[in-house]
Amino acid sequence: MIEQQIKETVRDVMDFPKPGIVFKDITPILKNQELCTQIIDAFVERLSGLEFDAIAGIESRGFLFGLMLANRLNKPFIPIRKAGKLPYKTVKQSYNLEYGSATIEMHEDAFEPGTKILIHDDLLATGGTVEATSLLIQKMKGEIAGFSFIISLDFLKGKDLIKPYADKVVALAE
Ligand code: PRP
Ligand code: ADE
Repeated sequence: MIEQQIKETVRDVMDFPKPGIVFKDITPILKNQELCTQIIDAFVERLSGLEFDAIAGIESRGFLFGLMLANRLNKPFIPIRKAGKLPYKTVKQSYNLEYGSATIEMHEDAFEPGTKILIHDDLLATGGTVEATSLLIQKMKGEIAGFSFIISLDFLKGKDLIKPYADKVVALAE
């Protein structure tokens, strides 16, 4: 089963980037191209009931599978970047996450109003990052179509921040 394979492959790194954090390192997944394909296959299957026009992936780990998935589904990819990286006019949103705080940005012409957007990231922890992404997309009049994650750390209650979309969240492993 894909969930078991993901759990067996992800490496737990203690006290990174701060004491007390158990960091889920997904780089061992990236070394296994067969598992990468299985993850994309699983997303495609589990997202088949969801209607969306584009995928927004969050820097940096959300770019890895977000772009692969967008390419497989033949949909545009919208990069959500950490502040100061995008060259054109941007909209910004600050947020807190499990081990700090940050600001993300999106180009203000990243999509047309009314576009239905799937938000993708590798991992859901406290939910601060995807909540900030949702706010950015809504600021630019996009519609949130759903969320996809490889891993959801359910004990951190990130799903509480995206409760209105509870039936539109795909997480392959907990
Ligand atoms: C990690 C992860 C998610 C976020 C989840 O990103 O890739 O984007 O944290 O945490 P949250 O649910 O508590 O907001 P990080 O900011 O470490 O950046 P990276 O992807 O560049 O490593
Ligand atoms: N992002 C937020 N919390 C994380 C964790 N425990 N492991 C990996 N990425 C994270």
